Amino acid sequence: MRLKDKVTIITGAGQGIGRAYAIGFAKEGAKVVVADINFENAQKVTGEIFSLGGEALPVHVDVSDEKSTLDMARQVADKFGRIDVLINNAAIYYGLRLQPWNSYSVEEWDRVFAVNVRGTWLACKAVVPYMIAQGKGKIINISSGTVVVGIPFLLHYVTSKAAIVGLTRSLATELGDHGINVNCIAPGFTMSEASKTMEGKPPGFDEIVAAMQCFKRSQQPEDLVGTAIFLASEDSDFITGQFIAVDGGFTRSGG
Ligand SMILES: NC(=O)c1ccc[n+]([C@@H]2O[C@H](COP(=O)([O-])OP(=O)(O)OC[C@H]3O[C@@H](n4cnc5c(N)ncnc54)[C@H](O)[C@@H]3O)[C@@H](O)[C@H]2O)c1
Repeated sequence: MRLKDKVTIITGAGQGIGRAYAIGFAKEGAKVVVADINFENAQKVTGEIFSLGGEALPVHVDVSDEKSTLDMARQVADKFGRIDVLINNAAIYYGLRLQPWNSYSVEEWDRVFAVNVRGTWLACKAVVPYMIAQGKGKIINISSGTVVVGIPFLLHYVTSKAAIVGLTRSLATELGDHGINVNCIAPGFTMSEASKTMEGKPPGFDEIVAAMQCFKRSQQPEDLVGTAIFLASEDSDFITGQFIAVDGGFTRSGG
């Protein structure tokens, strides 16, 4: 068990890729905090972890709201006494529609940034004091391969995920003296429900993406779990500030 008793907060763990991280971490012995704005889903995933014999805590959080992220961190510290790992996976992704760059309302643009960028910062702001007190911690942010290749028709989303790269590098620099690792994973196009049902995809889109990868099959949520476990484990203690693409070779490049 590579993550025995590591207290791990995973935001957006109520469905999709976040759920896969939650289950994968529980199997490695982590105490998993299933944090989501959809509390019902967080409870469902917690139930799945219990049925596997794991330990988990469902938490309602809106990462775009500072009071809510502070409450989340406090609840976790009260229950488990520490916070070892934070995965900033929550994002506005499900329900996005592929559409031209100038077609979004200002409200939609701002909401994507409030959750994807401010939410990542606020979760760090709430959790890092506990990690500093421990002298150690692991933060795993979630960017996207879309920022490397400049995927069209999701401009607000792609721009928000590019911000995560800068946030990761700058924060890694500021937190190095506290023994805190900050890295980001850039998933390729992954067959979560959100990707499968995305409106505006041209016919055959999923297959075209798979054909552009080195490994010519669609990426599944479980394909991301091993890298997250590695970044949360002691095996990655000297790795920080990095952008790691996990995409079957789709981008074949750094961030
Ligand atoms: N699926 C892909 O192809 C892909 C590719 C690259 C990056 N990503 C990133 O991976 C992550 C997970 O992707 P997914 O496909 O599972 O997406 P998803 O939209 O299915 O899951 C996002 C989760 O975040 C939660 N969430 C949304 N707003 C929230 C808020 N304000 N506070 C707390 N939780 C909130 C949702 O309820 C949901 O459970 C996201 O960060 C996404 O941007 C996904």
